[in-house]
Amino acid sequence: MVSYGRCEPEQDASALKLDVLRGWLETEWMAERTGQELIALAITYSVIDLSVLAKYVPDFALAQDFRFTGITPVECSVVMRLNDLNDTGDLTHQMGAHIYRFVSGDKTVDVMVVATYYTDEIYCHRTICLAAVPKDFLPVWHTFTKECVRLDNALEPDEKVIIVGGKENSFVPKVDWDEIVLPAKLKTELLDDVSSFFTKGVDVYRRLNLRPFRKLLLAGVPGTGKTMICSALAKWAISNHYPVIYISSAYRKQGEASGATFEKIEYALSIAASSALPTLILLEELDAYLHEEEKALVLNVLDGNESQVNDKGTLLIATTNYPEAIDERVLKRPGRLDRIFIIPEARTTVDTEQMLRQYLGVLWQDEHKKLIPALVGYPGAFIREVAVHALTQCAYDDLNELSYDLLQRSFNGLKAQLDARDDFLKQRSSNGMQFGAPVLVN
Ligand SMILES: Nc1ncnc2c1ncn2[C@@H]1O[C@H](COP(=O)(O)OP(=O)(O)OP(=O)(O)O)[C@@H](O)[C@H]1O
Ligand SMILES: [Mg+2]
Repeated sequence: MVSYGRCEPEQDASALKLDVLRGWLETEWMAERTGQELIALAITYSVIDLSVLAKYVPDFALAQDFRFTGITPVECSVVMRLNDLNDTGDLTHQMGAHIYRFVSGDKTVDVMVVATYYTDEIYCHRTICLAAVPKDFLPVWHTFTKECVRLDNALEPDEKVIIVGGKENSFVPKVDWDEIVLPAKLKTELLDDVSSFFTKGVDVYRRLNLRPFRKLLLAGVPGTGKTMICSALAKWAISNHYPVIYISSAYRKQGEASGATFEKIEYALSIAASSALPTLILLEELDAYLHEEEKALVLNVLDGNESQVNDKGTLLIATTNYPEAIDERVLKRPGRLDRIFIIPEARTTVDTEQMLRQYLGVLWQDEHKKLIPALVGYPGAFIREVAVHALTQCAYDDLNELSYDLLQRSFNGLKAQLDARDDFLKQRSSNGMQFGAPVLVN
């Protein structure tokens, strides 16, 4: 029988390896239970994560109707008792030896779990984690570890949108649905589509034997409010306790060819897949992801065949202001995109007035209505710019009121800039120069 000494600080850390843990398990636990056939398993770290165990529902039915009833620490001569603390202040991975108890009727099964950190030859900190599981208990243990892994990865309702691939980890969406000005029918259809997918759609997909993965595209020229709509839908989803993931196309490293990588989409889908709740994914500028190297991968994901999908439902909302870049394979093939919403510029005098009133706030006056016909046909972002520019002029000149004249000058100035830019772009294009979609505002 091998004897394993207490772990002294001066002891070479690399001695705390698999063989040491395995040896301890054998001598201190398995040797005393010769009547049982015990299997030593390398196990997932989710099982030793206290924040995961805190989420575990005691009534969760494991195989053979077993329930997990809790853990008890035991003395272990080869492992120091240690804990991790995560960035939200919760205790997580727990090193040491623990008995995990499972009960079914009058049957009780104990599993010994032992885990430790060690530093390898190249001074990297690693965790190893072993369990001694009775052979006939393996199916139950398997369902237990699977549930721990699920809880470890599961998204929880949060007031923040999770960002994948961006510089920040999350953001709080601030836009209210009421702030968006769109033709009433379109606005209602859009919100209905989203909310009915979450409330009824998932069951419908399941009944039809389809994977519950819905994909919507918002297409429109720059500045019509696509990003704003995404933000408002994120706020709506969060207030209804659905997790939201935003895929950022920000460059992560200097020199990176594109920040719009398939890897980010795949990662977002995998987070959504492990969620216990229907999840919303926002993918802005879909066209940017359809570059030659990765187009086929993105198309496969849109088909839904190769992507992991949350069985509680995943709703992907993509945007583009450059639908020409999205080839027919995406736009026309049934199933790749379930629905395309065209997000228009302000089309009616009613919508235009609503927008101008919204952005002028308390400085709105009825005489400003005279400018409405000239503003119809412009994207919301332009109308907002006209208002904001006029308001800043007002503030510079210490005025308490915004005259129609000042508002009109703001419009004329911005329109002239826009026309000059359009002329310039047209000229370049007639000279045969290539460039991307013209950007009106921003
Ligand atoms: N339909 C709208 N209703 C109310 N405000 C709008 C609307 N469209 C645009 N705006 C205003 O213009 C700003 C910019 O719009 P937004 O960024 O959402 O446009 P976009 O369609 O995403 O543009 P891009 O295609 O360039 O990304 C919004 O934050 C909002 O203030
Ligand atoms: Mg946008």
